[in-house]
Amino acid sequence: MSNTKQTFQPNVEFQKTARIKSMDEYYALTKKAEDDYEGFWGDYAKEKITWKKPFDTVLNESNAPFYSWFEGGKLNVSEQCIDRHLDTRGSKTAILFEGDNGNKLEISYKDLHTNVNKFANLLKNFYGVKKGDRVVIYMPMIPEAAYAMLACARLGAIHSIVFGGFSAEALKDRIIDAQAKVVITADGAFRKGKAYMLKPVVDDALSSETPVEKVCVIQRNNEEVTWKEGRDYSYNEMINSESAICEAETMDSEDPLFLLYTSGSTGSPKGVQHNTAGYILWAQMTMEWVFDVKEDDVFWCTADVGWITGHTYIVYGPLAMGATTVMFEGVPTYPDAGRAWQMVEKHKITQFYTAPTAIRVLHKMGENEPSKYDLSSLKVLGTVGEPIDPPAWKWYYEEVGNSNCAIVDTYWQTETGGHIVSPLPGATPIKPACATFPLPGIIGEILDPETGKKVANGESGYMCITKPWPSMIRGVWGDPERFKKSYFGDVKKDGKPVYFTGDGANYDEDGYITITGRTDDVINVSGHRMGTAEVEAALAKDDNVAEVAVCGRPHDIKGESIFAYITLKTPCEDEAAKIKELNNIIKKEIGNIALCDNIVFVPGLPKTRSGKIMRRILRSIAKGEAITQDTSTLEDPTVVQQIEAIVKS
Ligand code: WT7
Repeated sequence: MSNTKQTFQPNVEFQKTARIKSMDEYYALTKKAEDDYEGFWGDYAKEKITWKKPFDTVLNESNAPFYSWFEGGKLNVSEQCIDRHLDTRGSKTAILFEGDNGNKLEISYKDLHTNVNKFANLLKNFYGVKKGDRVVIYMPMIPEAAYAMLACARLGAIHSIVFGGFSAEALKDRIIDAQAKVVITADGAFRKGKAYMLKPVVDDALSSETPVEKVCVIQRNNEEVTWKEGRDYSYNEMINSESAICEAETMDSEDPLFLLYTSGSTGSPKGVQHNTAGYILWAQMTMEWVFDVKEDDVFWCTADVGWITGHTYIVYGPLAMGATTVMFEGVPTYPDAGRAWQMVEKHKITQFYTAPTAIRVLHKMGENEPSKYDLSSLKVLGTVGEPIDPPAWKWYYEEVGNSNCAIVDTYWQTETGGHIVSPLPGATPIKPACATFPLPGIIGEILDPETGKKVANGESGYMCITKPWPSMIRGVWGDPERFKKSYFGDVKKDGKPVYFTGDGANYDEDGYITITGRTDDVINVSGHRMGTAEVEAALAKDDNVAEVAVCGRPHDIKGESIFAYITLKTPCEDEAAKIKELNNIIKKEIGNIALCDNIVFVPGLPKTRSGKIMRRILRSIAKGEAITQDTSTLEDPTVVQQIEAIVKS
């Protein structure tokens, strides 16, 4: 692989005050971590976390891969994010909220303290929430979502946020898997100038039997909703009678902080478990290193709190470091494609963090919009969620960043809790669409899956992390075997199973890491992970579907779109109507985010004689690529030409 990529040096002015100022400093830190791994992490844990009781050990590997960090330590994440800032930053804005309609609300650290304490008291006193209970949060992007998370953390309850785009069925599955006793939701909120609803979805999810006892409803859009007596209660009516002091529960370092369901290559979504100390430590440190947020900065991450990016980089990371974090209810293209840039100008945003799919939309819809606004406050631009394509990167760098801002292409996953491979804005010479190097303390290596050896520069392999790190996934809720199998089953280094991300990657001639995408049956639609198995299970619910296989297909805006191949039991007359029907099932079972852009009806699927579907062939056909795989082992090789003919027609 030749290294034809251009390199961009860090901004010299920015570099002067950056926390990590040069590659020499970066190498010194990585060397420190290599030479004394526990010393490295132990020192940061002491420095960054306000402990109620110091920890005894840094890392315990005795029960691998169930690693534990900072055993013996006691803390509370809500205190780390709020209380400890009160003396120095009480009146500083913690959350800067902008509504869909442009209204602005500034919530100081002191206000945040009051709101979170009241919410915690409400959950404790009225809803009976206590340490270890699971609480499902199904919320729009409003400050109460952050209060709810932090209130759970204050009580030691484990929150599980379900993204508002998931359907009632998907919500119900997650409620049941987590055995949640309380759901926190809102009537709805506003998007593109209109009210939309969430509460009816919750009603639907709870219409059959679930462990949920009570529902807390925040009234945001004040639209009419149905109230189920004895189950649903209004937050707005009750919150003011709660006291503004709620003592924070003393939590162990390894007590669970939250669950977040994500898709895997097989089966139903997994409840990824993150624990207390390690998660919050890395959330804070990556805010400091990767975004290099300073005291007067205004940080905006455009994610939804329903995804890990929203957890770590809207709520926990920024608040743990005492930053001002922007939360936005609306969409960056409404009322026009300049909305995001207008917000940057209006709030003097210094770090802007979004996904390639959003960059492509903003580019496509408003190529020249950035030049209409004063974006000079921007210092660092971030991207996350999928490999970014060089044209989008270039536009982001030149038009949004005015060729002055570092782009941090942050590579990580729900399971890693925070960034693992990313440029450092004051140190790393960046290359377009390249995640560059593992962060200090993260032993990220591209390994050859066969030999378990690190591949050479110019070669590709599997992106692995070969030592445990503090913010790593601690388990799959209720399924320890699945945890081991999903993450520590595929790659061994020196005979020892190591964490495999599921992504392929390569080193260029300079040792820079480029992530090339999933190696498994996971599709990345607009930066959201979709398991083929889940989509297939939904489509198989249709009575007339005999067999189904889905795969990803490259898409200009979404990165990938979902392509489904279906064999029907009896031929259907109106294919367009059937496609609609099938997408309606997906809408009901999973949600709009999993709708298929393509559904084709085929006479059969390419299978080996043992009955295994050859997905690689289906992926090639969906992409319009020539079939290079050997089809002679197929049960019926002619089916491939038949499918190709149908897809092309
Ligand atoms: C998957 C994780 C991490 C928060 C958002 C998604 C892909 C993520 C990058 C990047 C190339 C990336 C990977 C990863 N991905 N960031 N900068 N470059 N690919 O979280 O739903 O857990 O998905 O997103 O494939 O495994 P997630």
